[in-house]
Parts: sequence; structure tokens; C-alpha cells
Amino acid sequence: MSRMINQDQTIAFIGAGNMATALIKGLIAKGCPCANIWASDTNIEQLSLLKNDSGINVSSDNAEVIIQADIVVLAVKPQLMNDVLLPLQNVLAEKTVLLISIAAGVSIKTLETLSSTQQAIVRCMPNTPALVEAGASALFANSSTSEAQRQQSQSILSAVGTVCWLQQESDIDTVTALSGSGPAYFFLFIEALQKAAVDQGLNPDIANSLALQTAFGAAKLALSSDGDVAELRRKVTSPGGTTEAAIAQFEKDGFSNIIARAVEKAKARSEELALLSDNQK
Ligand SMILES: NC(=O)c1ccc[n+]([C@@H]2O[C@H](COP(=O)([O-])OP(=O)(O)OC[C@H]3O[C@@H](n4cnc5c(N)ncnc54)[C@H](OP(=O)(O)O)[C@@H]3O)[C@@H](O)[C@H]2O)c1
Repeated sequence: MSRMINQDQTIAFIGAGNMATALIKGLIAKGCPCANIWASDTNIEQLSLLKNDSGINVSSDNAEVIIQADIVVLAVKPQLMNDVLLPLQNVLAEKTVLLISIAAGVSIKTLETLSSTQQAIVRCMPNTPALVEAGASALFANSSTSEAQRQQSQSILSAVGTVCWLQQESDIDTVTALSGSGPAYFFLFIEALQKAAVDQGLNPDIANSLALQTAFGAAKLALSSDGDVAELRRKVTSPGGTTEAAIAQFEKDGFSNIIARAVEKAKARSEELALLSDNQK
């Protein structure tokens, strides 16, 4: 790991579903000892699968895994945060831990109130490509979080992709509209591209394979390039060529405006959901 998890530290996951499993696999792949990882879940079948696959410690008792832990990752659905945290207030009051929440829309204020502690809390917005170690996470820390705890949070999330820090918590709504929901925007674009090629007579399997590889190749090229994507686009757009013809049509049809309005809508919905979650506590 570029930023190593302290080998003496124990990480507990509350909720052992898709995101927790991805993080646990990522951590083990990056050298974190499985003996240092605990997970709890109400789904016993899910726990035993995870134990068999990864060799970590599991329990159906959330309090038991917190007692073991220096770092607690809250990986349950946002609407369950009340039910999960309220019964854990006593155990959290007796321990100093770093709480990392990956639950969408649950604010630091809500987490502080529900856990009834002045603990270090890091709120994180990951995205689905974390499942294939290609995630993009944005993190925000409360004022009780030390520099060492920020580094620990960063090393956990960077086991499944890139990590950036936000200066203000409200930016999480924009991040949700960008990278949180973003994978689906790209799926939509790929679907539309495939369909357009099939409408032009191309075999659907070939259209699928070419559209996917083009999306992957374009992202890989952009990531490995020093310049910005606008510069890359200009480089591959020859005057009078096919790409220029397509891009002119995109612009005529208001492509940038469509994206801007979609991101605005997603951000507004993220703010609404956060408000609902705050009012539920
Ligand atoms: N998936 C994503 O792409 C993504 C992206 C960004 C953020 N997130 C956030 O990540 C969090 C987890 O998402 P996920 O997709 O991993 O969800 P998930 O697969 O449903 O995992 C959550 C797990 O928590 C278990 N659980 C329910 N109640 C519990 C309790 N009281 N104590 C302990 N465990 C309990 C669930 O069991 P049951 O199945 O039996 O209910 C389930 O196994 C969510 O808050 C979500 O907002 C996810």
C-alpha cells in the first residue's frame, strides 16, 4: 500500500455487503492481515461466505466487532443508520475509534448525534467501480479527526481506487452527482452508442464489444496523459473529419447543457435525500 495500514490496527466493518466486501478484498490484496479485519452483519449466510472467501473474523454482533476495533467502517444502507448506531452508543462511548461512514446522504452531524460521541468521523462517497478496484472516493473529515486518522482513512479507501479530500462537507452532494452516480451516466452513453451502431446495421455483439473497449481505452488514455481531456479531444478531432462531424452534431443538440442539467438534478436530489436522512434521526 502506498500509505500502509498500521499492522497493529484492527478494522471492523458494520455491514458486510457489496461495498464492505470490495473494501475487505482490496485491503487483503494490498497486504492488510486478515486477522486484523472484522465484519458484522445481520445476514449470517453473507458472513460465512465472506469468512470462507477471505479468512477474516466475523460476528453477527455489531458491538463485538467494535470492541476489537481501532477503525470502524459503517457500511450499511443509509436508512438503517439509526437502527445500527443507537444500540452502539454505549460501546462507542467506552472506546476511541475512527468512524468511517460510506453511507450516502448521512451527514457528519447525524453521525455525531447518532453515535453520541466526539469521535473522529470521516464521511466518504465511494462509487460502484470499487467492486473492481477502480473506484473513485471523496472524503470529508470532522474536526476531531487527526492527521494520522486521515491517512488511515485514505489508505483504506485507496485499497479500491483513487481518493480525494473535500474542503467542505456540502461538496459531497456535487461528488454524488459526479462520481457517485457517474458510472450510470457512462453506461447510458455506452448503451446509446451501441444502439446507434446497431441502428446503422452493425452486429449487436460487435457493437457492444467496440463500445465498451472504446470507453475503457478513452479513460485509460486520458488517465495516462499529461494534458487535459479537452486537449486530447482536440488532438483526435481532425478538421473536416468524422469526429468533428459527430462533435458538431453533439454541440448542436446541446450535449454539454444536457450533462450540466443532469448533474444539477442529481445534486439537488442528493441534498433532498440528505435532508430527509437528517430529519429521520
Ligand atoms: N454500492 C455502491 O455502489 C455504493 C456507492 C456509494 C455508497 N454506497 C453506500 O455503501 C453502503 C453499503 O452499500 P452496499 O451496496 O454495500 O449495501 P449492501 O450490499 O446491502 O450491504 C449492507 C449490508 O448490511 C447488512 N445489514 C442490514 N442491517 C444491519 C445491521 N443492523 N447491522 C449490521 N449489518 C446490517 C445487510 O444485510 P441484509 O442484506 O440482510 O439487509 C447487508 O448485508 C450504503 O450506505 C450505500 O449508500 C454504496
